[in-house]
Amino acid sequence: MNKDIVCIGAGYIGGPTMAVIALKNPGRKVTVVDIDKERIDRWNSPDFNLPVYEPGLKEVVAAVRGRNLFFSTDIEKAVAECDIVFVGVNTPTKMFGRGAGRASDLQYWEATAREIKRFAKGDKIVIEKSTLPVRTAAAMDAILNDERGTGSGELGTGPKFTVLSNPEFLAEGTAIKDLLEPDRVLIGGPSDETGRKAVEEAVEIYAAWVEREKILTTDVWSAELTKLAANAFLAQRVSSINAIAGLCEATGADVDRVARVIGFDSRIGSKFLKAGPGFGGSCFKKDVLNLVYLCETYGLHTAAEYWMGVIRMNEHQQERIVSRLFREMFNTLANKKITLLGFAFKADTGDTRETPAGVVARLLADEHANITISDPKALDNAKRDLADLDGIKYVPDEYEAAKGADAVVVMTDWRHYPSLDWRRIFDGMRKPAFVFDTRNCLDRDALLKTGFRVLNIGK
Ligand code: NAD
Ligand code: UGA
Repeated sequence: MNKDIVCIGAGYIGGPTMAVIALKNPGRKVTVVDIDKERIDRWNSPDFNLPVYEPGLKEVVAAVRGRNLFFSTDIEKAVAECDIVFVGVNTPTKMFGRGAGRASDLQYWEATAREIKRFAKGDKIVIEKSTLPVRTAAAMDAILNDERGTGSGELGTGPKFTVLSNPEFLAEGTAIKDLLEPDRVLIGGPSDETGRKAVEEAVEIYAAWVEREKILTTDVWSAELTKLAANAFLAQRVSSINAIAGLCEATGADVDRVARVIGFDSRIGSKFLKAGPGFGGSCFKKDVLNLVYLCETYGLHTAAEYWMGVIRMNEHQQERIVSRLFREMFNTLANKKITLLGFAFKADTGDTRETPAGVVARLLADEHANITISDPKALDNAKRDLADLDGIKYVPDEYEAAKGADAVVVMTDWRHYPSLDWRRIFDGMRKPAFVFDTRNCLDRDALLKTGFRVLNIGK
């Protein structure tokens, strides 16, 4: 077995993860392949115009690209040459047929399994990096090992494939830091001898920089489910604090103060207690929906309803933002200029998948507001996401974007927003000038002193 690695899927996960693996394993050749030629060209671009924005990513890619990290569209060659194949293709929510709107769409995943089988020349370890429903590895195993006669690879002479689950826990915006200093790495594998050896091979990759105690091994089904459960727990915390935020607004309590004190309880902890516009990103919604679908499939209807509540609470948060703006701005938003500051689903990323700002923009458009959007990294994605809405303006400069606005709505917690010249923004706006800080990241007292009418989440 050679030590080289191929990763199928050069997206948000495949690119950064493999760049760090290559950085820390200089003795291994790491090739990232994709069917999307434009994406691969950007990974290979001489000026590092990479398809993913992550702090520190450019530097890592610059250090290893061409040394032991390669990006290519030649899937056949890469699979034929490597014995360890990571699969990091997209697994979006299925939008058709059975399980529509809930289940994972596994068509890309299955296409990849068939590609691996077609191009493989010898035995391989196939590692699930994508987030997948529990027992997907069984389907993978069936597709890959079928010709060996049993599906478990005991008979026959074709290549033997051992399927592992190695879900990724990095968060966007902190991908490189999370990869370099992970809380844990999880590897699930079969318990037979071949499985144990394959798990040890996978452990070796990470042991190049992660302490052994943080590399946790388990069975495949538990690893697959752990990933869905971890995301569901995180999403549930955001929905829980947002549910408290509504109550704070109704009663005069302050959600940030409540969260701070709750977080002092070491059993609860302080992270993921920030009230805001609701969670976005490519994964929380899809993974919780997937959990709901799994619960329903196994007849666990009360559990399914419980997790569905996390999604409903999240959607309610964006509706609440627009309703409150509507109420406070004299029950009409028609023809009023509303500027959204921030469109990315969180700071330090250009990713806009499932961003709450997208939902808010659409709800504002329903009210016939004139919408302007500003964001330092996500305007191209915003334009693409809202291409079907007429009349939206996209303005990178915050002061220009806010000029003449009736309200500025802070949707993303970009670090520089608190230090903008808010007096200058105020002076350029129509009066009364509203600011709705949905991230509670601005200095509320200073804004009030400037003359703004200030709205916050949970205050
Ligand atoms: P992505 O859409 O950014 O990238 C997936 C890539 O796979 C695309 O470039 C696509 O062209 C490619 N692809 C699809 N089918 C292919 C095929 N047959 N052959 C070759 N390439 C193919 O998605 P992502 O955000 O990187 O997510 C990938 C997986 O990782 C998902 O399951 C996701 O849930 C999981 N995940 C993502 C994150 C994150 O922060 N984005 C974190 C943890 C886990
Ligand atoms: C999340 C998880 O944190 C990762 O562990 C996981 O690997 C990843 O999903 C995935 O599977 O894709 P990510 O979505 O990139 O990472 O970003 P988070 O930092 O988790 O934020 C998700 C959303 O929740 C953002 O919209 C963020 O603004 C919101 N959030 C987060 C809050 O509103 N309040 C908080 O306290 C924390």
